[in-house]
Amino acid sequence: MSAALYAGLMSGTSLDGIDAVLVDFSGAQARVIATAYAPFDASLRAELLLLQTPGHDELARASLAANALAEAYGTQVRALLRGAGVTAQAVRAIGAHGQTVRHRPDLGVTIQLNNAALLAELTGIDVIADFRSRDVAAGGQGAPIAPAFHRAYFGASGRSRIVLNIGGIANATILPETGRVFGFDTGPGNVLMDLWAMRHLGVAYDADGTFAASGRSDADLLLRLLEEPFFALPAPKSTGRDLFNAAWLDERLASHRASPANVQATLLSLTVASVANAVASAGAQEVFVCGGGAHNQTLMQHLAAALAPARVETTEALGIPADWVEAVAFAWLAQEHCAGRPIDLMGITGARANRLLGCRYPA
Ligand SMILES: Nc1ncnc2c1ncn2[C@@H]1O[C@H](COP(=O)(O)OP(=O)(O)OP(=O)(O)O)[C@@H](O)[C@H]1O
Ligand SMILES: [Mg+2]
Repeated sequence: MSAALYAGLMSGTSLDGIDAVLVDFSGAQARVIATAYAPFDASLRAELLLLQTPGHDELARASLAANALAEAYGTQVRALLRGAGVTAQAVRAIGAHGQTVRHRPDLGVTIQLNNAALLAELTGIDVIADFRSRDVAAGGQGAPIAPAFHRAYFGASGRSRIVLNIGGIANATILPETGRVFGFDTGPGNVLMDLWAMRHLGVAYDADGTFAASGRSDADLLLRLLEEPFFALPAPKSTGRDLFNAAWLDERLASHRASPANVQATLLSLTVASVANAVASAGAQEVFVCGGGAHNQTLMQHLAAALAPARVETTEALGIPADWVEAVAFAWLAQEHCAGRPIDLMGITGARANRLLGCRYPA
């Protein structure tokens, strides 16, 4: 069978950088044939972070940031083509998520910055972008949407599985042995641990969770953090930096004395407890973790303990390394758009019916 090559571009709530993949979907397995990653340069990251909250002249600044993003996406696509030794003509489309700066489905709003027209111009490849807004228009949360990909490639295994993506925000996909698949955001993944590591260590993240492992989780503080109403909401639900941000954390720490290391340990416990509480009723036999959180050994150990007797490993065991699953999902969404196939997110985002997601910017 001839190759069906699609590129996927993902830059998530962590604001760490751009994940890019080139995938061949012609076989039964999604075959990743090239990958590229680039951290955001410091000035773009700082601006994207500022654009998460209201500010001066933000419409114009958002458009300029979107142009800078498209340039950075274009650079990653060129890296993929070089890495795979293929031409732009061989790639059927790029699925580009864009950079979320607001996620308020309750207001009918989710905003992903991107200049898809510029990306099509820069690459000479069709770009499919803006996947979330149609889902919101159809009454959905607009997020998470990667569970549709998890269902297509990791589901129907005859086993009861969960796929956990631990990015800035964490989301779970419940793949039961039989019956309906569902998925939802569980709450913070790395976002709070990242901001605490930046504040106290001056680093982008707590590598391997060593800072967290140097402290002790504070049971009172953990209970206080778990009082957040989002955790008790029924699915469908999604969240972002709109809720889980520095102001949220500082408000809860104001009346609490804990050492920086103990706070970090508690934030790690918060991710673990909110995930474990949310998926407990699924009683899955196996859990596969993807996203940057899969590299945090302390987090993985605590997750394994909290989810026992389920077996916890990374999606590498299913053929796609943890770092690339979300980007592969957007390459797949581009393919589904090109094939004219609406996506069923009714059990995931709560959309009222299947919808064709994304918008095409021809090469
Ligand atoms: N070695 C590591 N140790 C601890 N944490 C790590 C390590 N490597 C990556 N991370 C964490 O993973 C994060 C990046 O994860 P990822 O790229 O999956 O998140 P994201 O960009 O928010 O994506 P998405 O929104 O698609 O889930 C980093 O911010 C960091 O917290
Ligand atoms: Mg990322």
